Amino acid sequence: MDLIPAPLSVIRPETPGTFALDAGTGLTAAPGLAPVETWLRTVLGAATGLPLPAAPGGIELRLDPAAAPEAYRLSIGPEGVLLTASTPAGAFAGAQTLRQLLGADAYRTAPLCRTGWELPYAEIEDAPRFGWRGVMLDVSRHFMPKAGVFRFIDLMAAHKLNVLHFHLTDDQGWRIEVKRYPRLTEVASWRERSMVGFRAADRRDDRPHGGYYTQDDLREIVAYADARQITVVPEIDLPGHSQAAITAYPELGNTDVVDTAALGVWTDWGVSENVLNVSEATLRFFEGVLEEVLEIFPSQFVHLGGDECAKAQWRESEAAQARIRELGLADEDELQSHFIRHFDGWLAERGRRLIGWDEILEGGLAEGAAVSSWRGYEGGIAAAKAGHDVVMCPETHVYLDHRQGPGEEEPIPVGFVRTLEDVYRFEPVPAELTSLEDGGAAAAHVIGTQANIWTEFMDDARDVDFRAFPRLAAFAEVAWSALPAPAERDWEGFERRMAEHYRRLDALGVEYRPPGGPHPWQKRPGVLGRPLDGPKGT
Ligand code: ACM
Repeated sequence: MDLIPAPLSVIRPETPGTFALDAGTGLTAAPGLAPVETWLRTVLGAATGLPLPAAPGGIELRLDPAAAPEAYRLSIGPEGVLLTASTPAGAFAGAQTLRQLLGADAYRTAPLCRTGWELPYAEIEDAPRFGWRGVMLDVSRHFMPKAGVFRFIDLMAAHKLNVLHFHLTDDQGWRIEVKRYPRLTEVASWRERSMVGFRAADRRDDRPHGGYYTQDDLREIVAYADARQITVVPEIDLPGHSQAAITAYPELGNTDVVDTAALGVWTDWGVSENVLNVSEATLRFFEGVLEEVLEIFPSQFVHLGGDECAKAQWRESEAAQARIRELGLADEDELQSHFIRHFDGWLAERGRRLIGWDEILEGGLAEGAAVSSWRGYEGGIAAAKAGHDVVMCPETHVYLDHRQGPGEEEPIPVGFVRTLEDVYRFEPVPAELTSLEDGGAAAAHVIGTQANIWTEFMDDARDVDFRAFPRLAAFAEVAWSALPAPAERDWEGFERRMAEHYRRLDALGVEYRPPGGPHPWQKRPGVLGRPLDGPKGT
């Protein structure tokens, strides 16, 4: 069956057989599962050309209130297909499994002239390991037009991934329309040129780069994702990674140490020194931004970044130092912490929860905040031990911008070598948590895991395909399936299943990295990267 991610259990009958789908095959659903019925009819109808009328005698989606959220059972026999779940999310996961069972052509957008759509008799029981199975997509460094975002959401859904962490703002571009502050899109949504390759080459193109999503575009993206059981968690990165916003509104910067009016949207990669000031006016400004963010994104979590906030300007700024004294803070770390805590409380008052990169631990973790652990596992371990929820996404393991092989032919090779097998052997819950004698309390704070796609070196969706796939398929299995410890994982079995999965990706038109290395047109000869020698498995 070559299912990816692997389900909990599959039982095949002693006498194998198949249930055939044809023009008479019906598709029905219990009222609560109607959105999944619609999705299934649309997607399978497009690929197969079958009408799947709303009539009994074929595929039935049935509610089973006793099933765990997101769990499903798929029974395929001579009478037809019965898919049971307690939620649309569970039924949707089962519908994705059903699509895989139909073969690679079920992933096409329009039908080939073929018949013979068959589902093998089987009883499949399935449920995810983690509730947060995420991907962070950076649309600041390179903007992804919304058509590409819809496609990316479909690819996530096909892999049973359910959180799109949408990195909407950074030094190099602001991508969300804010009605109160039009200069954020007029000025901050584009830059004059971009760095080509790693900064040491000091090479730039002469091509302006930009784009942004209107609020209606974002509502459309949220609704599209919701119909595929995916939550969009917006990220507004504060108080660092803010040069684009400061370019649009110079008063947000440290005006007593830099001439912020002279800044432009950053055309370099790296970490800009230009960070927000921490005045009351700046807090009010971002409350205004966030009021609009909350109207667009219904997600429980809102990501406020908090990573890599350079402190040099705060050290030099008399205004920042006066603020530290006025607030009775010890240092610049506590100033950052004050800023994040302010928004933690602000979000909590509005029924939301803050999540931030693990730097938000420095200077004291905001109460109720959750952490995206990116600088290895350490931040996540500390946060989980302190009772905070954690999404494990260590740079050492699941940064999909990092190179996929050791060879010279990898395009703009950055970071550690992280092969498909390395990602398959990634374990989100470290032994430091599972070995605690706390009845599993701290480990249970790891609510999930996420792969991060930073796009400095991916200037379009083709490049994103190349770096994300096939590794996102391995990551999806790590996030969904009940896998044994990394050393005991059946890598050969996964590789065998991947042979069929590559055919699915081909049918979807995904330009993944082939197992033997990049195609000639996927290489970037002469563009400088920055390979790092990370010890394997660190
Ligand atoms: C990060 O990679 N700066 C979260």
